[in-house]
Amino acid sequence: MDYIKEIKRLQKEKNAVILAHCYQNIEIDNVADYIGDSLYLSQMAAKTDADIIIFAGVYFMAQTAKILNPTKKVILPNIKAGCDMADMINLQQLREFKSKNPNIPTVCYINSTAEVKSECDICCTSSNAVEIVKSLNAEKVLFLPDKNLGKWVEKQLGNVEVITYNGYCPIHNQLNPKEIKETKMQYPNALVLAHPECIEDFLNLADYVGSTTGIMNYVKNSNEKEFIVATEKGVLDRLKRDYPNKKFYDICNTPSICQSMKLNSILDIYNALKNETPEITVDAKIAAKALNCIERMLEVSK
Ligand code: 13P
Ligand code: SF4
Repeated sequence: MDYIKEIKRLQKEKNAVILAHCYQNIEIDNVADYIGDSLYLSQMAAKTDADIIIFAGVYFMAQTAKILNPTKKVILPNIKAGCDMADMINLQQLREFKSKNPNIPTVCYINSTAEVKSECDICCTSSNAVEIVKSLNAEKVLFLPDKNLGKWVEKQLGNVEVITYNGYCPIHNQLNPKEIKETKMQYPNALVLAHPECIEDFLNLADYVGSTTGIMNYVKNSNEKEFIVATEKGVLDRLKRDYPNKKFYDICNTPSICQSMKLNSILDIYNALKNETPEITVDAKIAAKALNCIERMLEVSK
């Protein structure tokens, strides 16, 4: 069977939209309506008039789409696609973190569960984290789960104390400064582009730090021809496809792969559309509270 053709047919028949994160297997772009980073996809999820949302991403992304669209069917093609960082903080741990640091606004990275979002003031993505923290006009903020993104935001702003929870993305957090130096020696003409989920000592050696979209736009607007790209393999795959005249290298020539992001396959998407499962559900009370946190972010990042 030509699954791509069948997906497109079912999509029209059922008025479904397919959203895909840039870390997905690249063949998923063949069926996706919108491809992008966490912010762009949440904005698209907030706008869609489709009846069904197929989210080719990980659990927290589909959950966010469901919170924004309580009456629509939201489907995560492979239900096992989770996020290790989002799983590093639960509601009880959030409450302990808040009680140790009382009366401080709480910013959660979108890479968090609906329960966690339901007790935070505002959420953010890596694209808008600086803008979101700034919008609070606070001297101190609590930031979770990603300590690296939180500390990077603190450095960008300079006048806000960002108190971070001890969470991180295992994929980005493991990249180290020694590796960046070695890779730079191998490719001396290449600029280093890094995602802010990397550790501070690593980011200090990068030429540009930005979200998935930030990195892609940097390449688009740059006259440079060679880049060392310190983020998930999906971004490199798309850059190589879109800029065949430029060269892209992994840190130490070893791709950084988020296995969860790679779980959704074309076959899973076909089955998801055909059977309308596995559907994401969120408890109505939790969803209503988490919606405030997400909508507040979307309001700031219009
Ligand atoms: P962005 O999509 O915000 O760049 O985040 C990267 C990521 O790790 C998503 O899980
Ligand atoms: Fe989570 Fe990291 Fe995978 Fe993104 S790359 S989904 S933050 S584990």
